[in-house]
Amino acid sequence: MKRLVTLFLAGAIGVAAAPSAGCGQAPSLESGPQTVNVNGQDRNFIVRVPEGYDNNNPYRLIFGVHWWGGSMEDVAYGQTVEPGVWNYYGLERLAEETAIFVAPQGIDGNWYNDGGSDYAFFDEINRLVEGSLCVDTDLRFSIGFSWGGSTSVGIACRDGEFPFRAITAIAAAGPFECNPGTAPVGYLGIHGIADNPDNGRSMRDRFLQNNGCSGEENPPPGSGSLSHVRTDYECSGPPVSWITFDGGHTPAPWDGGQGDNGSESYVPGYAWDLFSSF
Ligand SMILES: *[C@@H]1O[C@H](CO)[C@@H](O)[C@H](O)[C@H]1NC(C)=O
Repeated sequence: MKRLVTLFLAGAIGVAAAPSAGCGQAPSLESGPQTVNVNGQDRNFIVRVPEGYDNNNPYRLIFGVHWWGGSMEDVAYGQTVEPGVWNYYGLERLAEETAIFVAPQGIDGNWYNDGGSDYAFFDEINRLVEGSLCVDTDLRFSIGFSWGGSTSVGIACRDGEFPFRAITAIAAAGPFECNPGTAPVGYLGIHGIADNPDNGRSMRDRFLQNNGCSGEENPPPGSGSLSHVRTDYECSGPPVSWITFDGGHTPAPWDGGQGDNGSESYVPGYAWDLFSSF
């Protein structure tokens, strides 16, 4: 009876979860560091299982991808900005135990994706986590700073077996490929005016096209304004938003100051607004 009511309610509000193989099973992954073998190579990641985990509840799955020279610990434990506040780019606290988080570790802190090795690693994490825990396979997301941003873009471009529903690319930079790059994926790009915003714009434009968007970018904030400007495009597909801020290559910009402040930054709130809108 409870199940029927749930199904009815889910149908009534237009929500149909796509439960993974791990739903209804005893969980076979615990929070903490994990190792998977990918084509003969051991690869590491950290997983965070929500407190009060319910194996009948299909959770969002959110990847937090580190930057050049960063680590899975930096992402999972908020190191380098503010521990606790900045875990998984600040999303852990906002999700309030409604999402499973993973932080993959690049080889020597990079994402060169030699021979497709990093993208295969992401696939393997999906396979393992979705088989071990209850994930809504329509609700996979990724967030990353710098090379972690462009790696999120590159994987969103794959139209692969484990597609992202939406991504947040903060100061996306570094080598990446967008191939074939035709799938509509929700997109939030955030870039400092003293960084290389045109790099971020070129990635954003791909999703403006894929998602059937129109509209003009609002003029960026002035240098010295210590503020940000947001543009929300009109899209027939998933949403695309773009933020420019008065600042450089930083993951946690905030209004009223320079550099990073994890508690004051608007980045987590905007990213969570996007990810929780599906
Ligand atoms: C961030 O902002 C908070 C609240 O305004 C303040 O207490 C804290 O000192 C700031 N942290 C940094 C690293 O600037």
